[in-house]
Amino acid sequence: MTKVWSFASACAFGAALAFVVAPGHLQSQEAPPANAEQKSPWVEGTDSRPAEQAYMNIKVFTGLPANRLEFIMKNWKDSLGVQCTFCHIKGEWERDDKEEKETARHMKTMTEGIAKSYFNGKFDVTCYTCHHGEEKPAKNPPAAPVKRQPRPVQPGAGL
Ligand code: HEC
Ligand code: HEC
Repeated sequence: MTKVWSFASACAFGAALAFVVAPGHLQSQEAPPANAEQKSPWVEGTDSRPAEQAYMNIKVFTGLPANRLEFIMKNWKDSLGVQCTFCHIKGEWERDDKEEKETARHMKTMTEGIAKSYFNGKFDVTCYTCHHGEEKPAKNPPAAPVKRQPRPVQPGAGL
């Protein structure tokens, strides 16, 4: 009983002390801004429910195990050489305000169509195949293509 009491009073004392000691300027610096509570956008790694059950606004990834969305989003970001905010409003991932997000849905459907129609369902053509780290893939080769180096002749190659 004494132990419990002394623990409680120690806590109360500690809290009071912290309140008194904390300097004003530090308090304001450390006070988190209203939206600082940036929790992870992703579900638990073990969550394999259909994405539309785990997330709020899933239209093209219906049926995808929810824990695979993270890999795909990071792949899209890298394939286009952009930040997540190219398609999203940070922290409000379900919103559809950005045109790029809707374009990405079309692109996903197109890429699936290419796999089905031309590669026996294999994803041989991906976002990266076209985009190569660019927002808009290049239509034409560069004006002055780099000349190939002549192949070095192997000594004793029988030429
Ligand atoms: C090229 C555009 C694009 C990029 C880049 C992108 N996303 Fe997405 N994201 C989408 C689209 C499109 C959807 C909706 C998919 C659907 O409708 O099934 C989505 C859905 C999501 C969702 C589910 C939101 C919900 O509750 O419905 C999260 C979370 C998310 N993205 C996070 C990210 C993060 C974090 C990144 C960066 C690592 C990222 N995205 C990069 C286009 C993008
Ligand atoms: C067959 C080639 C091809 C593939 C595959 C492809 N894209 Fe694209 N994508 C394009 C082209 C070409 C454009 C530019 C169209 C234009 O000039 O407006 C584009 C434009 C976009 C844009 C709009 C960019 C902007 O600046 O407005 C987004 C977003 C996008 N693609 C996302 C994706 C994602 C995500 C994937 C994979 C799921 C993908 N694309 C796969 C060819 C492709």
